[in-house]
Amino acid sequence: MEISERAEKLSPSLTLAIDAKAKAMKTEGLDVIAFAAGEPDFDTPEHIKAAAMGSLDAGFTKYTPAAGIPELRAAISDKLKADNQLDYDPSQIIVTCGAKHACYNALLASINPGDEVLIPAPYWTSYPEMVKLVGGEPVIVPTTAESGYKITPDQFLEYMSPLTKMLILNSPGNPTGAVYTENELAALADVALDEDMLILSDEIYEKLIYDDAKHVSIASFSKDIYEQVLTINGFSKPYSMTGWRLGYVAAPKNIAAKIESLQSHSTSNPTSFAQKGAWAAYKGPQDCVSDMLKEYSKRRARVCEILDGISSLSYVKPMGAFYFLVDISATGMTSSKFAQRLAGRRKSRRRSRPRLRG
Ligand SMILES: Cc1ncc(COP(=O)(O)O)c(C=O)c1O
Repeated sequence: MEISERAEKLSPSLTLAIDAKAKAMKTEGLDVIAFAAGEPDFDTPEHIKAAAMGSLDAGFTKYTPAAGIPELRAAISDKLKADNQLDYDPSQIIVTCGAKHACYNALLASINPGDEVLIPAPYWTSYPEMVKLVGGEPVIVPTTAESGYKITPDQFLEYMSPLTKMLILNSPGNPTGAVYTENELAALADVALDEDMLILSDEIYEKLIYDDAKHVSIASFSKDIYEQVLTINGFSKPYSMTGWRLGYVAAPKNIAAKIESLQSHSTSNPTSFAQKGAWAAYKGPQDCVSDMLKEYSKRRARVCEILDGISSLSYVKPMGAFYFLVDISATGMTSSKFAQRLAGRRKSRRRSRPRLRG
């Protein structure tokens, strides 16, 4: 069977492949810690599960409006006002099957074939593939450890061409843990305004933030930039709800309406009873989020301690999310060789710890 050009261009998700390998090794009884997929290891908080189960018991098992149930859209609108100083009417919020789906729908509604989309690297693996899926051209903008893995306004301008339509921003970032400061975002917003660029602002890790770092939503700077931003967020990471598949995009009125239409002809609504759980996540107690954050902070400190003791590895301390981007170039190994070596050493608990030059 002939495969479409669109599908032919796609690469499979390496993250999911590595995760599958780790899971298979665990099934064999090997002592493996899987670092590949960005998946919290906590259970979903009880009050969220109870809300979903209660709605199932009550028979809330039918189609909902394609863009989500009104009370959830209203709860998201309240949250965006309170936490992010963003004024989105519920009609401008489309609840999607995960933040990934929100990004995809947002790209589908805003990118034409041939449009270029700037993606700062290192990036979340799905961005370039999603851009290709909608017919756009991903343009990778390299960043360095020295800049904290953040792009500067000069780079934004340098990589722009007459075909550029959008910049994808992800702060706090996967896989770098980089968090843009208010000033850095304001400077990028100025360039976007001057050059009439859209910004897709993926804020899925906003609640996972450390020390004195602060999350700022780029759409909150002014009415003008608000009109050029698609804000993405979701429930997977802050509430440990990865399997529930719930996220959202908040956007200017005209584009939100189109995203709603796109969704109505593709997935229709996200799962009905999962939406009830998401409503409880936003309207219920938030100490579950701060408890998880405390645990991530402890783990972050421990990983820093371990890495600081290995001189052949370097890293930029992550200020958000739950990733470490480790520079292994001094080991002389490729990343897959490095990972294989670590995994190989885990085969027996009795063997000594992996010994890296250090
Ligand atoms: C930067 C980023 N955006 C979006 C997502 C997707 O989240 P969801 O599970 O809500 O689709 C992920 C998941 O790893 C991510 O790292």
